[in-house]
Amino acid sequence: MFALALLLLMMALPVQASPLQDQSSLRDYYQQRFPQLSLADYRQGVYAIDAIARSSWTAIEEFPPYEPAIEQGEALFTKAFNNGSYFADCFPDPGIANRYPQWSKSQGEVISLPMAINACRVAHQQPPLSYQHSDMLNMQAFMAYRSRGKTIATDIPGDDPQALAAYQQGKAFYYQRRGQLNFSCATCHIQNAGKRIRTETLSPMLGHTNNWPTYRLKWGELGSLHRRFAECLEQIRANPLPEQSVELRNLEYFMSFMGQGIPLTGPSVRK
Ligand code: HEC
Repeated sequence: MFALALLLLMMALPVQASPLQDQSSLRDYYQQRFPQLSLADYRQGVYAIDAIARSSWTAIEEFPPYEPAIEQGEALFTKAFNNGSYFADCFPDPGIANRYPQWSKSQGEVISLPMAINACRVAHQQPPLSYQHSDMLNMQAFMAYRSRGKTIATDIPGDDPQALAAYQQGKAFYYQRRGQLNFSCATCHIQNAGKRIRTETLSPMLGHTNNWPTYRLKWGELGSLHRRFAECLEQIRANPLPEQSVELRNLEYFMSFMGQGIPLTGPSVRK
């Protein structure tokens, strides 16, 4: 009797879903919404669901505008720092972009690929690069290219409550309504995924972290995931947070975990 009362009490209390429960309910939702898509299809962003946009995208991918960035990134990778060491001393295998963002237990924060690149520079007495610097983006383009096809490995370690807290903050950010339009990320990319807004189709959020850095025709250059976050925030007239701020890294952490297992396609091209 007591056990039953306890059970009923526990059921009545709001229980925070675990990251894995979040992942599976979000995937179930999209599965119902887009039954034609496999999990891996989400790597193509909006082109997975918009056939007309996909055909012009496929044509652009034949002569990809991000190709010079991969070459320049490779040149940086193989060029010695002033102290005679190389990026390869930090990243013996450049094809590890799928392992970021990752939780660092020792640092107690989410480490993104751009941060890891800067940490390597600092460890070799080089000044850190700004996150918009072309060398920073080219390095990521090269590393993403070498990681293509590998699946997002972002994990939330169960043995560190701080990691779970960072994930929960990222998730809360995703669902929080903000800005003059009072929209959340989820309003557009979950509830309204597949619908059109002005001239664009809204992509599902699964796979949103898989294609970076991205050459956007609108930007006329390669840009980062956090730059895209800022643009979406500006669209709803909300405060665009700085690249690599804790908020945006936690957001990326949550989103990457939702996309765990989807193959990397970066660098990519988008309208
Ligand atoms: C008013 C609707 C709207 C809201 C709200 C919104 N976005 Fe977007 N977002 C868009 C549109 C439109 C695009 C371009 C087409 C597409 O890929 O969906 C886009 C694109 C993106 C992309 C690029 C996808 C790719 O394949 O390159 C990411 C990542 C993204 N949004 C994340 C976010 C995040 C995170 C938030 C919340 C901070 C957010 N968006 C809020 C409309 C929105």
